[in-house]
Amino acid sequence: MPTRRDFLMQGAMATAAFALPRRSLAAASDVEFLEAQPASIQLAPDGYPETEIWSYGGVMPGPEIRLAQGARLRRRFVNELPQASSVHWHGVRIDNAMEGVAGLTQPAVDPGRNFDYDFVVPDAGTYWYHAHNRSTEQVARGLYGALIVEEPSPTDVDREEVLILDDWLLSPETAQIDPDFTSRHDRSHAGRRGNFIVSNGRHDLAFDVRQNERLRLRLVNAANARIFVLALKGMEGWTVALDGMPLSQTQPLAEPLILGPGQRADVIADVTAAPGETAHLVRIEDQEGVSQAAFRVTGRAADKRREAPEALPANPRMEVTGLEDAKTIRLHMQGGAMGTLDSAFLNGEKKSFRELVDANQFWSFNGTIGMNDTPLVDVANGETVKLQIYNETSFPHAMHLHALHFREISEDGGLGPLRDTILMFGGQTRTIGFVADNPGDWLFHCHMLSHAASGMMTWMKVT
Ligand code: C2O
Ligand code: CU
Repeated sequence: MPTRRDFLMQGAMATAAFALPRRSLAAASDVEFLEAQPASIQLAPDGYPETEIWSYGGVMPGPEIRLAQGARLRRRFVNELPQASSVHWHGVRIDNAMEGVAGLTQPAVDPGRNFDYDFVVPDAGTYWYHAHNRSTEQVARGLYGALIVEEPSPTDVDREEVLILDDWLLSPETAQIDPDFTSRHDRSHAGRRGNFIVSNGRHDLAFDVRQNERLRLRLVNAANARIFVLALKGMEGWTVALDGMPLSQTQPLAEPLILGPGQRADVIADVTAAPGETAHLVRIEDQEGVSQAAFRVTGRAADKRREAPEALPANPRMEVTGLEDAKTIRLHMQGGAMGTLDSAFLNGEKKSFRELVDANQFWSFNGTIGMNDTPLVDVANGETVKLQIYNETSFPHAMHLHALHFREISEDGGLGPLRDTILMFGGQTRTIGFVADNPGDWLFHCHMLSHAASGMMTWMKVT
């Protein structure tokens, strides 16, 4: 039995421990930290000043978190920013309470405070984590990193590279981040698009590779609004996973790969360029190819090419069953510049488009701007949902469903790959289906973050 004296001693020790620097505390208790803090990094080319960013752990991108499928991820999030924040684990089939959506699954973590994230990662794949409070600003300031969940047996590749693609909106004189995160123009048009495009925080990211080497490229689009259209030069590639989830068959990269904000792709790429040449991950812009990352071929890894790669092993629960008796829900997306929205409900009041413009709110889902108390979908755990989405706007939207992967259902009933974000172009109607087998409140929103902040956000309730 501890005596009262022991108890007091413990109290005193706890106080002493609290005063220790955090690092030694970590060593003692095995807590791993994820610290959001301001940092200064050389983002723009040499000769420009450093850029003040918000970072995880002082680096850009944030520290890569890599663990085995089925392992437990634990991080003590420490907020050293001047703003409240939270960490969202994009794409992970997760416990609702650990999902990190400020205002829905947890209160935002105030400056100087902590939050312990602790959950299991059930599915292998390429994910990412990012701030989920005032996301337009916090993600644009640099609060993101890769989350990699490894398959039980290693894939047959020579090496692997994670490439997080982003575009920063920087002042051309000072190289500082444009602080207008609520720009009326960005909100009502294509979103906040940057003028400085990078991979892993570098505009000149380059690797040394060898001919006939096989790479696995894990591509993440962390941009606020930019759609990356990608191709390979000097490499032959196959898409093997989308949004973390393996494709049942590898897909030769014959057409450009389109990655909307929030989306990921795993590409297996064989270096075909000869020693002395440079291969590229190419970004296509206005019909022209620009290097997004360079791969300098410095020698030869093997005399011959390998056989085409095999598909990755499937994750558990990849089937979308029960579509015949699915609950069908419609979602009309309206608004924005050159759109069809005359009026919509904002905070329970009907507003004309003119009034919405004054409120800097532009987008509606089924006539309502932003979140309210009524979920778009209210289902029991295990029910199957079919969601018909009509994009009646003039812009593309990258619609992201939290924690529940879906498959697109084509007109003939065929099922597309399992994904967590669907890129919808203006005027399109698309249908997705998913099994709501994870209880909780889950966001469904546009990952063009200025759009989410000006109306394109709703939620689903699974009970
Ligand atoms: Cu990647 Cu709701 O976010
Ligand atoms: Cu959008």
